[in-house]
Amino acid sequence: MSLYYDLVPTGIPGLDEVLGGGLIRGGRTYLISGETGTGKTLLSLSFLINGIYKYGEPGIYVSVDETYDQLMNGVRRFGWDLEALRENGYMEILIPEMDIIEKIREKDPITIAKSLVYTIADYSKTLNAQRLVIDPIAPLVTLEKDVQVLREYIRALVMGIEKEVGVTTIITTEIPTGAKVISRYGVEEFLAAGVFVMGGLAQTTEGDFKRYLFIRKMRWQAVQPTILEVEIQPKMGIVVKGPLKDVHIPFYALMM
Ligand SMILES: Nc1ncnc2c1ncn2[C@@H]1O[C@H](COP(=O)(O)OP(=O)(O)O)[C@@H](O)[C@H]1O
Ligand SMILES: [Mg+2]
Repeated sequence: MSLYYDLVPTGIPGLDEVLGGGLIRGGRTYLISGETGTGKTLLSLSFLINGIYKYGEPGIYVSVDETYDQLMNGVRRFGWDLEALRENGYMEILIPEMDIIEKIREKDPITIAKSLVYTIADYSKTLNAQRLVIDPIAPLVTLEKDVQVLREYIRALVMGIEKEVGVTTIITTEIPTGAKVISRYGVEEFLAAGVFVMGGLAQTTEGDFKRYLFIRKMRWQAVQPTILEVEIQPKMGIVVKGPLKDVHIPFYALMM
C-alpha cells in the first residue's frame, strides 16, 4: 500500500499487486492506449464493473465509439448486465445519439469540452460516482479539425474533469496500426498520471499467441516498466497473468 495516497483498486486480478494497490483516488487521469481490438474497452469496463461488484463504487461510462445497443449487445454476450447495474443506480452510461453528436460538432471544441465536463459532473453527483471512463477521448470533436485544436480540446476536457468531477478517470485513445507512438494526439500521455499500453498479441516460442499490456508510466508510484501477460475472460473481463515470458514481442512495443 502507498503511504502517501489513498488508492482505488482496479479490482483487476493480478494488476493491483503490480501497481502497489491501485490507482490514485480522486481527480487523476489514467490513459489506456493501443491499436484497435487490443482490449481497451474491456480493460476500462473491467475497472468500472470490478469497482461496483468488489468495492460498491458507482461509475460512469462515456462513449462515442458505438451505439448504446451495440455496446449492450456486446457486453451481454460477454456476460455483463450493464442494464441491471444502471437500473440499480450503480452505473451511468452516456452515449449520445449520432444526430446529437453532429449538432455538438458544429460548436467550438472548448465549448464542447466544457459542456461535457458539466454534464458528467451532474451525473457524477447524482450517482456519487468514484470512477469514470471516457472511451475514447477524442471523437466528440470532428476529426477534421487540426491536431492543435484537438489537443486543446483534450486538455480542456481532462483538466476540467479533474477539477469539476474529481474522480479517478480512465481515458482511452486508439493508436493507428503499426504507429510507433503511445497516443494518437501526442498530448494524452502528458496529461495522464499513468499510461497503460495494450500491446495486442505476442507470439511465444511455442508458436501460440498471448495478449499483453505494458505499464509505461505511473506518476508518484514505484512501478517498474513491466510487460504483463493478460487474458480476456468472459464475465471476468481483463485478467493479468503476471510478467510476460518466452515471447517474441514486436520491436516497436519495446521501444516505447
Ligand atoms: N467473449 C470473448 N472472449 C474472449 N475474447 C473476447 C470476447 N469478446 C471479445 N473478445 C476479444 O476482445 C477484443 C476486443 O476488445 P476491446 O476492448 O473491444 O478492444 P478495443 O477497445 O481496444 O478496440 C477482441 O480482440 C476480441 O478478440
Ligand atoms: Mg474500444
